[in-house]
Amino acid sequence: MSGFPGIEGTTVVVTGPTQGIGRAIVHGFADNGAAKIVGISRSITDDHAVAAEARERGAEFIALQCDFADRGANLALAERVHEAVGDIDILVNNAGTVAFSPSDEYPMEMWDEVLEVNLHGPFILTRDIGRRMIKNGGGKIVFNASLASFQGNVGVISYTVSKSGIAGVIRGLGVEWAPHNVNVNGIAPGYTTTDLTAPVHESPEEFAKVLERTPANRWMDPEDLVGSILFLASSASRSICGQIIPVDGGWLVR
Ligand SMILES: NC(=O)c1ccc[n+]([C@@H]2O[C@H](COP(=O)([O-])OP(=O)(O)OC[C@H]3O[C@@H](n4cnc5c(N)ncnc54)[C@H](OP(=O)(O)O)[C@@H]3O)[C@@H](O)[C@H]2O)c1
Repeated sequence: MSGFPGIEGTTVVVTGPTQGIGRAIVHGFADNGAAKIVGISRSITDDHAVAAEARERGAEFIALQCDFADRGANLALAERVHEAVGDIDILVNNAGTVAFSPSDEYPMEMWDEVLEVNLHGPFILTRDIGRRMIKNGGGKIVFNASLASFQGNVGVISYTVSKSGIAGVIRGLGVEWAPHNVNVNGIAPGYTTTDLTAPVHESPEEFAKVLERTPANRWMDPEDLVGSILFLASSASRSICGQIIPVDGGWLVR
């Protein structure tokens, strides 16, 4: 997928690049001429397959390991990014996790971890990278939100709370940073076949329920989400602020 204006030559941060949606996002930026891609997650290395895939497509790839469950690491992360590559043009907050349990016995350790990885960590990184974008006259920030930013989901209360919080971050920063030429937006993917949703798509019964509920009658592939992320990171979306685009095969309007 190529042809998105304003991506060529940029320095992009993608969190959670090792697999699933994040890996497809790295491919999308490299295919559109991004010069440098900084990939951040627990297991990413310069030797990871996604690093080689980015380089094959012509982008430099820089791996930074960080566990977003660790508050101290989150507070130090933006400085590490800036030390590694200098100024950032585009930040894609994609890394995320989920923890399943009925809410009436939801363990607080799971609650704390999911909230740190999905909400607090991305906010801290965005705050600290955004500060430099403001100083530099602009930038693009895109979050991977969720249908759970709009709806209740069963058995994943911390995930629902984290993604509802991200919707607030997108709206709050979307208006606060619009005068600084920093666009803050997000996408809400429909059910996508990745490891995150394995408990759902590996159950034939649950897989079929999602199909039946989705007007497009299909699960999303990671590649289905890349165009909307690139659009929100491109100069074509300069007047879009604080919005979340559902990419869900029609799920939310049904
Ligand atoms: N799949 C869906 O249906 C769906 C729907 C809506 C929204 N989303 C959102 O899309 C994003 C990507 O999901 P996915 O489906 O692609 O999931 P995935 O295949 O499980 O990939 C998750 C990515 O996040 C990284 N990550 C997980 N925990 C981390 C931590 N503690 N610290 C740093 N990095 C961490 C992982 O890398 P390491 O293992 O190397 O840390 C991995 O690269 C998430 O924010 C998710 O909520 C997904």
